[in-house]
Amino acid sequence: MVAVVGSPRPHGNTALLVDVAHEELGRRGIRVDKIVLSERRMAGCLGHDDCADRRACPHGDDAADILDAVYAADGLILATPVYYENVSAQMKAFMDRNVFRYAHDEWLRAKVVGLVAITAETGLDETLAALRRYVALSTDGEVPIFSVRGYADAAGSAAKQPELLAAARRLASDLAAALLSGA
Ligand SMILES: Cc1cc2nc3c(=O)[nH]c(=O)nc-3n(C[C@H](O)[C@H](O)[C@H](O)COP(=O)(O)O)c2cc1C
Repeated sequence: MVAVVGSPRPHGNTALLVDVAHEELGRRGIRVDKIVLSERRMAGCLGHDDCADRRACPHGDDAADILDAVYAADGLILATPVYYENVSAQMKAFMDRNVFRYAHDEWLRAKVVGLVAITAETGLDETLAALRRYVALSTDGEVPIFSVRGYADAAGSAAKQPELLAAARRLASDLAAALLSGA
């Protein structure tokens, strides 16, 4: 399984909840490769709009490696803070760079997807809808989706919310059950 983390705060709420799910998945024997987008080089799409005619994206950054891992994964977690009532810029750049795969008729192999979105107050529905649209555009068929949504602001303050931590563990058990049942 691969977890894509869209918050630039290394000890923020998104990272914290992903780590809780990661630990729980590990307890269930499922390996998770965590990709923290802000630690990698993934520039915004340049809009050549000719991906299908190219063998490789002209950006010489980490996107191809990241997308290789994401497209090969049997399960996927996408996690983002709410920024301006939408996904973070890092997560949006990631989404846009998937156009290369879309243009080459490549689809996610994930059998199950987990979504995590955290906000101070507003924009959760819009952000989760954006993540769901990403999954719909990047898959060839239906994939079960489980999600965790929560409210927290100061970095790491989600740690003080037992119900949110429990939701992250529940996400992990739902993902594990779907993977192990071969959904
Ligand atoms: C650039 C930026 C935009 C934000 N936009 C919103 C917003 O639209 N609505 C909201 O309630 N909180 C907003 N927030 C607050 C974050 O969603 C909140 O602090 C969240 O816990 C951050 O997650 P993280 O700790 O994983 O980075 C914003 C924060 C930043 C830095």
